[in-house]
Amino acid sequence: MSMPFIDLAAQQRRIRRQIDAAIAGVLDSGAYVMGPQVREFEAKLAAFGQARLALSCANGTDAIALPLMAWGIGPGDAVFCPSFTFAATPEVVPWVGATPVFVDVLADTFNLDPAKLEAAIADVKARGELAPKVVIAVDLFGQPADYPAIKAICDREGLKLISDSAQGFGCTLNGHHPLHWADVATTSFFPAKPLGCYGDGGAVLTNDQELWDLMDSFRVHGKAVAPDLVGRTFDHDTKYLNTRIGMNSRLDTIQAAILIEKLAIFQEEIDLRQVVANRYAEGLEGAVLATPRVIDGGVSVWAQYVIEHANRDGLAAHLKTQGIPTAVYYPVPMHIQAPYAGFPRGAGGLPVTEAKAETVLALPMHPYLDKVDQQRVIEAILAFNG
Ligand SMILES: Cc1ncc(COP(=O)(O)O)c(C=O)c1O
Repeated sequence: MSMPFIDLAAQQRRIRRQIDAAIAGVLDSGAYVMGPQVREFEAKLAAFGQARLALSCANGTDAIALPLMAWGIGPGDAVFCPSFTFAATPEVVPWVGATPVFVDVLADTFNLDPAKLEAAIADVKARGELAPKVVIAVDLFGQPADYPAIKAICDREGLKLISDSAQGFGCTLNGHHPLHWADVATTSFFPAKPLGCYGDGGAVLTNDQELWDLMDSFRVHGKAVAPDLVGRTFDHDTKYLNTRIGMNSRLDTIQAAILIEKLAIFQEEIDLRQVVANRYAEGLEGAVLATPRVIDGGVSVWAQYVIEHANRDGLAAHLKTQGIPTAVYYPVPMHIQAPYAGFPRGAGGLPVTEAKAETVLALPMHPYLDKVDQQRVIEAILAFNG
């Protein structure tokens, strides 16, 4: 008997009526692009994430690219980020012509190591080839990075801070969402994310209206936005006035309408995920190399529940025979992957990242994982250990 790794169908059964009505509303209105649900969702998302503003876009990758574009990050600039992450985090940096600098992570939380970040910045400055500009911290597997420490470094060094919260949207540290420290927080609505839609989607949260306006321009082909028009008159419709080179990265109205319904139950789902995480922690205590440790004061949204095991591949194979799916995030760190191998690495390399890639294993995790199924996972792991 197999079980799903992430049970999106259980959530859909719960809110199917609301989702059907939301989609039907968009079909009836005909406003498929930038319909009123997009602005409504942005306002609700901002409120949830303790932000003044949210800007939706086509996916969580563009969400990281948009602030880089708006800040004018480009050739000769260094952007510091972890290597133990999904490709999207470093991928957007060369898009704008800048250079990702890979930094190691902490052994217990898998998130950016502030001391290694400091060393990487010092190293880049000493070499004198790149100008440090931005740090991208990732809320890996759902828990917040060490924002107070990272923010202090960014302030001292004059660096912008992006919180790549594609996996962590909804997480908090000492009651604050990541935007409390970051210049922008970005997220993804890929279906498997804690807050996912039924296709691709993403968003950037910020408290900076000027930045929001610029990103709004970049997401729609560099269109002229209100600040571009101040004090100028035109003898043509400004709708087709393009004041910068942008891209097309809008969130579909249908996805916004779906997300409004999903956001309405999101906090409850975060709480349910915590119940599941607690049951794993209790059942697996001492049975594996490590169960997840969340930063002090942190609340994870548990995008993944990742354990460590000395015989990770053996355990995964055993669980598969029991109909229990698992996944490895991430078997090959980004700094080792061919297109990224030439980019700089922080002083001392990334030994923690490389070691973690050998031991991590993600177990089934979603808000609707019931006690019986979860006990089956726990018992199968205990049985493997003998
Ligand atoms: C850490 C991280 N950043 C960025 C992304 C990119 O999101 P998307 O797939 O919506 O482009 C993802 C997810 O896929 C992710 O896990």
